[in-house]
Amino acid sequence: MEIISNCTQDVIEKAAKALTEGHLVAFPTETVYGLGADATNEMAVSRIYSVKGRPSDHPLIVHISSINHLEKWAIDIQEYAIKLAKDFWPGPMTLILKRSQLAKDYITGGQSRVGLRVPAQPIALALLANFEKNGGFGIAAPSANRFGAVSPTRASDVSEELQTYLNKKDLILDGGPCLVGLESTIINCVDSLPVILRPGAVTKEMINSSLQIDGIESNDESDFKVSGSMESHYSPKAKVFVDLPPGPGDGFIAIKSIPTPIGTIRLASPKSIEQFATDFYAALRLGDKKGLERIYVIQPEGSGLAEAIRDRLNKAASR
Ligand code: TXA
Ligand code: MG
Repeated sequence: MEIISNCTQDVIEKAAKALTEGHLVAFPTETVYGLGADATNEMAVSRIYSVKGRPSDHPLIVHISSINHLEKWAIDIQEYAIKLAKDFWPGPMTLILKRSQLAKDYITGGQSRVGLRVPAQPIALALLANFEKNGGFGIAAPSANRFGAVSPTRASDVSEELQTYLNKKDLILDGGPCLVGLESTIINCVDSLPVILRPGAVTKEMINSSLQIDGIESNDESDFKVSGSMESHYSPKAKVFVDLPPGPGDGFIAIKSIPTPIGTIRLASPKSIEQFATDFYAALRLGDKKGLERIYVIQPEGSGLAEAIRDRLNKAASR
């Protein structure tokens, strides 16, 4: 495995070629780092599952370079889904659509729907464009962490967590820290009305306003999964507590205006909700690095991105 931090055009070409040859390429997106494989190569996709230690019936998001490639992967697309794609792609949003022939069972976990996303991060977009130029159709990429763990927001998180599972010819592209820091908003667009399956930086308010509707529904993504439980999702090794008083030696995360309780170890002091999202996973990882047993988090208030943070926080705490 090689980590490359200066992602020049040559590097992008090398990475696209590696994907075409069936190797894995971890790459930055604006949400979190993804572990990419050629979405039409079953062998390569199966390596994603073994590197992540992920059950094989969990579907993968297919990343494409633009809305123009949507109809290769999806059929019978609702009009509102096209509107969302036009308004929020490239960006932190995944649409769940009825799959085409191209989206095989090994991508969709045997379901008749496929998850698609056009990321906004320039390295991700360049990689996709180059891969498609070489005849590729899309890059399957889950978050580049071991199953159940916290998503990586820096290339070093990926290498620390996955290096023992990656092969010599696999690559990690380092594009610096992810801007958003939380996984994409997932919207089920299969039925006549959209449903949010996972909140993210494309917020309920943004979707309502784009579609000129009042109350888009939410449904937990775990309700849509075929097997197992999602309980251990997004969890660090430390036990996470929400809105409870920490004790001496415990980790503490809260917005900057909240003072650090005496004797606790401050892991992050974000100044805004956006920064809270960006720093949150890195702060949980820092707690693990310090060997803390408990991390206490004061959840951010309000709508929008704060909802996505509370969603991940409560999943991390439900272990
Ligand atoms: O921001 C993101 O979405 C990142 C970056 C790399 O794009 N990817 C990501 O992938 O978070 P992953 O696999 O860690 O989480 C994707 C979620 C999973 O919970 C999966 O079950 C759901 O999306 N998903 C993917 N395809 C689906 C489908 N066809 N039907 C229902 N859920 C699906
Ligand atoms: Mg994930």
